[in-house]
Amino acid sequence: MTATLTKPVAGPRTLEDLLLEKRKFAPSKKFKDSAHANSEVIYKEGANFVKFWKKRAHELTWSKKWKKTLEWKAPFAQWFVGGKLNVSVNCVDRHLTTWRKNKAAIIWEGEPGETRTFTYQQLSREVNRFANGLKSLGAVRGDRVVLYMPMVPELAIAMLACARIGAAHSVVFGGFSAEALRDRINDCQAKILVTADGGYRKGHVIPLKQWADEALQEAPGVKKVIVYKRLSQSNPAAWTEGRDIDWNDLVREQSDFCKAENMDSEDLLYILYTSGTTGKPKGIMHTTGGYLTGAYATTKYVFDIKDEDIHWCTADIGWVTGHSYVVYGPLANGATTLMYEGSPDWPAKDRFWAIIAKYKVTILYTAPTAIRTFMKWGDDLPAKHDMSSLRLLGSVGEPINPEAWMWYRKTIGKERCPIVDTWWQTETGAIMISPLPGVTATKPGSATRPLPGIQAEVVDENGKTVKVGAGYLIIKNPWPAMLRGIYGDQERYKAQYWSRFPGYYFTGDGAKRDKDGYLWLLGRVDDVLKVSGHRLSTMEIESALVDNSKVAEAAVIGKHDDIKENAVFAFVTLKEDVSAAGGNRQAVIDELKAHVVKKIGSIARPDEILFTAELPKTRSGKIMRRLLRDVAEGRALGDTTTLADPNVVKSLKEKYEHLES
Ligand code: WT7
Repeated sequence: MTATLTKPVAGPRTLEDLLLEKRKFAPSKKFKDSAHANSEVIYKEGANFVKFWKKRAHELTWSKKWKKTLEWKAPFAQWFVGGKLNVSVNCVDRHLTTWRKNKAAIIWEGEPGETRTFTYQQLSREVNRFANGLKSLGAVRGDRVVLYMPMVPELAIAMLACARIGAAHSVVFGGFSAEALRDRINDCQAKILVTADGGYRKGHVIPLKQWADEALQEAPGVKKVIVYKRLSQSNPAAWTEGRDIDWNDLVREQSDFCKAENMDSEDLLYILYTSGTTGKPKGIMHTTGGYLTGAYATTKYVFDIKDEDIHWCTADIGWVTGHSYVVYGPLANGATTLMYEGSPDWPAKDRFWAIIAKYKVTILYTAPTAIRTFMKWGDDLPAKHDMSSLRLLGSVGEPINPEAWMWYRKTIGKERCPIVDTWWQTETGAIMISPLPGVTATKPGSATRPLPGIQAEVVDENGKTVKVGAGYLIIKNPWPAMLRGIYGDQERYKAQYWSRFPGYYFTGDGAKRDKDGYLWLLGRVDDVLKVSGHRLSTMEIESALVDNSKVAEAAVIGKHDDIKENAVFAFVTLKEDVSAAGGNRQAVIDELKAHVVKKIGSIARPDEILFTAELPKTRSGKIMRRLLRDVAEGRALGDTTTLADPNVVKSLKEKYEHLES
């Protein structure tokens, strides 16, 4: 179960390159003067991590104060033990007794261009009515509700409504296929699914209801399906009487008030599935008090969020970034969060810049993949728009290369906006390593230091601290927003995160620490891929490939890609009768790509498929992915002495070079 570790060096981002990075940018006086955190004192405060987090949690609204801040029975943590609160009260109700009642909570823009704004008061009404609607369908505290929605405000409303009645939500990204949705619904045993007739992406309709219907053919536990009608009347979705309910019909007669459940700090808030090193996605569990404390405090300090801000996190809510920094973090702070439904290149490649200018966005949080793509599209597009409202820029999801960081700083931030490169994971719930924009000097390509209250370190193969140099990134102490385990599989939780370096949380990432104590993330060292910021497992894609009747064996690797970080490269051995039949190679490639899309979703579609009669294996039968990476990336082959037959990989390399030329 433990991850197989490779050398922690990703693509062209070598340690030597990073050591040469000398540029350093201190916070401007102007920024510092008004920042929530503006001195080293906060790092010192963080040294006593229990006390530090206790102070942050006190800023939330609790109906009952906790007795003990941390109960740590490794690897199981309980935070704010005995405390009671409700997340929807913290994200909505508590702002209604202040002037923020009439402040914009959510500003939404649809891909076709519509816009809607919800004040905190309006949001409260919708959340309460939908919460009552869920209850009228039999949802009770402790249930799980799956949300399979486009980026519309109703998704945030449904999340908050679940939190209000004490049901855990599990949001499934709208880009996942029917089969992926089915597996997630069944794993968490949901009885209610909330979906939409569809959404828009690059001008096309994403037929969510159709995919949901397919998924439900093999998910008999779901008794009710709530459908938000986002499309025009000309696109009616198929309807199952007695099971399907129109969102508007459901809420029409509901009261504006639904009593918020008094939740225990450790009650489940949500499950979010993510890819690990095996074929089966993991249901990461996040609880109420700790998660909200983490999301709240990191939004406040890392984004330095203020009442005047328009905070735009471009991530889809289907990923953890959207949970913490589109919904929970900004709303717990009483801030204004912007949601955009669609693609950055629709109808034109300057859509993001147009949105920033239109709404006067002040904080932009996006992914290196997007930044590198914008760089490629050229400086003329951002130059066409007035983006002087921007005051802070963030990056998340993959390592950002210094060139992209500098472009972001100069072309988008006009050298005025601090950049926060934020490292974290679905499992960590909230940002863990990042500059504090009013305190920490930044270096292009470094996530800088662990946040106050977080003890992240680099260790060697044996778990010994590496003061200066490369190794594996671990976390030493528990933190409030940490995962509470894997839904239905706590053994996997222990094995996956706590066995490689006993006593420490193992992140799966390689990192380097420089002489100033700055951290430089080097990418995954296990079989997890990051494709345009999306997390996928090589095993998951391999399972999808061998599920096709033509395939005997498959090995998938992440090939370095200048834009996407990883491209999906599959080495496939076809069954003998298929390969003997010869036939149309391209047709088989297309069929296999379509098969992966059907099993997982278009985000997992292989970029390249190379057929091979055999895969390079060790004498004990293990596929040597390291050598497959050498083949795919056109490098000289590394050590082949442990292979059963070194000729297999040599001829594979020749074959690929021949195809390439
Ligand atoms: C993996 C987690 C929660 C953030 C969104 C992705 C990589 C994330 C950075 C960064 C270098 C990063 C790591 C991590 N990653 N942020 N700033 N610099 N790498 O969450 O899908 O759970 O993926 O994303 O490899 O382990 P996720």
